[in-house]
Parts: sequence; structure tokens; C-alpha cells
Amino acid sequence: MFQRRFLFVAVSAAAIAIIGLLVVMALNNSGNRSQVTTVITGAQIGGPFTLTNHQGRAVTEQDFKGKYMLIYFGYTFCPDVCPTSLQDMTTALEEMGSDADPITPVFITVDPERDTVDAVAEYMEAFHPRMVGLTGSVADTSKAAKAYRVYYAKIPAEEGRSENEYLMDHSSYFYLVGPDGTFRDAFQSHMDIGELVQKLKARVSS
Ligand code: NI
Repeated sequence: MFQRRFLFVAVSAAAIAIIGLLVVMALNNSGNRSQVTTVITGAQIGGPFTLTNHQGRAVTEQDFKGKYMLIYFGYTFCPDVCPTSLQDMTTALEEMGSDADPITPVFITVDPERDTVDAVAEYMEAFHPRMVGLTGSVADTSKAAKAYRVYYAKIPAEEGRSENEYLMDHSSYFYLVGPDGTFRDAFQSHMDIGELVQKLKARVSS
């Protein structure tokens, strides 16, 4: 857990430093602060993807336009963090009642080798009825994860276990994407559910 946070912080710090440098360079060139900031924050997190949903249909980010997406990256074999996070996401949306109608909860696997369409479909049964599970090729899921600055790494199975019983270390955030497809916010997945509900309500109504 510490190592995972540290890596995320290190990667985030590097990204912020680079973005800061770009802002300074751009400001020096244009002198227009608001314009520059808008362009850069819009380009930081998120992007197009081509994946397969848990019903076996090919989907892209375009299929979600007009709705907010609340995205979580994880894997179905995850022993603890993923099921807890997805259950918290489900509870938060249920607590929001009809305020959650504009939000589509989305699970994207970082372990496509084991997370087949069938595995994801079965996993989705445990969570929000409108949750969409997405998988795809290693290249396509990796591209999606990278776009959202998700950290993940395979941890080889312990000795004496089957090679296929590996774990995935991964960062654990909820990403809110607007109806226009732009990134709006990220929330730590272990956040208090009441706080998550408040933040989502504020974001979705504004
Ligand atoms: Ni997990």
C-alpha cells in the first residue's frame, strides 16, 4: 500500500512539475493565463479508448457521451481493494438516488489476460446494476490506463502457487468524466462514502 501510494505520488509530482513548466513556458509566450490553464487541465487526464463491454460489444468513449462516467480501474481477481472500492461506488450512487441517474459507473480492467468478457460479466453482477465492465486487448486496456495515469504492475504468484494466481498492484481512484468526455475530478477510492456523495452531487449539478 505504501509503495503504491509512493509511486502514485512520485508519478503525480513528476507530472505536475512538467505541467508547471509547460504553464510557465506558455505564459511567457502568450501572457494569457486562463486560456493556457484550460488547455492544459483538459489535456492531462483521460482520452479515447476502444474496449469491449461485459456484454461483448465493442465500445469507445463516444458511447458514453451525454452521461458522466465514474471510472474505476482494477481487476476481478483482486482480493480486497477492488471489491471494496466498487461496493463503495455502488453504495454512493444508490445513496444519491435519482441524482445519480446522469452517472454511468464504469469498471476497466488492468488485467485483461484473466479478465475475459465472461469474467467481467460475472463480476458486474455483484455491483451497481448499471455498472459497465470493460476489457480488451493488453494494448487497448494499457492505453486506457495510461490515459488516466493509472499505475499498475503484475506481482508474480507466490512460490508453490499456480503461475496464473498472480496479483496486480494498482492505484485506486474514481475518475469523473463529464458528458462532453472531459476529465472533471478524481477521488480516492477509500474516501468516506458520505463525502464522495457530496462531491459527486456538487460536480454533477454544477
Ligand atoms: Ni484491486
